[in-house]
Amino acid sequence: MSRPASLQSNVIRPTRPSDEEVVGRIAYQTGFFGDSAARYFPDSELFAALWAGPYFQGAGAGCYVAEAGGEVLGYVLGAPEHERYQAALRRVVARRLSSSWPTRRTLLSLRYLLRVARFPSPHASWAAFPAHLHLNLLPAARGLGLGRRLLEAHLAALQGLGVGGVQLSTTAENRAALGLYRTLGFEVVASRRTPLWTPWLRHEAEHLAMARRLDGGPIPAQG
Ligand SMILES: CC(C)(COP(=O)(O)OP(=O)(O)OC[C@H]1O[C@@H](n2cnc3c(N)ncnc32)[C@H](O)[C@@H]1OP(=O)(O)O)[C@@H](O)C(=O)NCCC(=O)NCCS
Repeated sequence: MSRPASLQSNVIRPTRPSDEEVVGRIAYQTGFFGDSAARYFPDSELFAALWAGPYFQGAGAGCYVAEAGGEVLGYVLGAPEHERYQAALRRVVARRLSSSWPTRRTLLSLRYLLRVARFPSPHASWAAFPAHLHLNLLPAARGLGLGRRLLEAHLAALQGLGVGGVQLSTTAENRAALGLYRTLGFEVVASRRTPLWTPWLRHEAEHLAMARRLDGGPIPAQG
């Protein structure tokens, strides 16, 4: 893949409220195993609101973007408290419901949301690992070390806040993410074969929960 030379002079900086739109756009562009979520979720605005909104609407902490030449290339979003995240998500949903009529794209996207409810992702104990995160880069920005720098910045912020542990969800297919998370101390704590993406992927996936203690405590054995 050819990369613009400008990508080399990049910076990692904390998110600003004005980043919500571009971060939501990147979430959508990378929301299907690193490719566009368009194939399973036609409503890009709803996707952005649900996947990026809560972190900008009260739940996020230690969120950063990678930027080069004034262009945002990717982000790490995280919420250190699960209940606060859920409350922010509920607010985002309530605002959407009261402010816009569902379009055909919205209705077509409901299929995926129903599948998420039916095939939930595995997760670690929220008591032991109250924080969770998302990390995504545009294709041209991958493999440059930005993912590692974003994640290191986020973990340092969580440690500064005194958060005990952090978890995330990924799949066994995502070699780059697995490699990165493992090198930064995450371990697989739960896994489940899932048909969640089968209509679009054409096969089942192995859904993984990975977690890392931030206070030196042990990682509980997989249940
Ligand atoms: C996963 C992702 C965040 C990694 O960020 P990145 O900037 O590409 O990765 P880095 O260049 O910082 O590499 C860090 C480590 O990741 C692993 N890694 C990165 N690319 C890899 C690849 N193509 N294959 C295997 N491992 C890879 C390696 O362990 C690497 O460490 P090393 O450089 O010491 O070998 C990025 O590729 C991405 O956004 N992918 C698409 C979206 C996604 O999958 N997000 C994660 C969802 S859980």
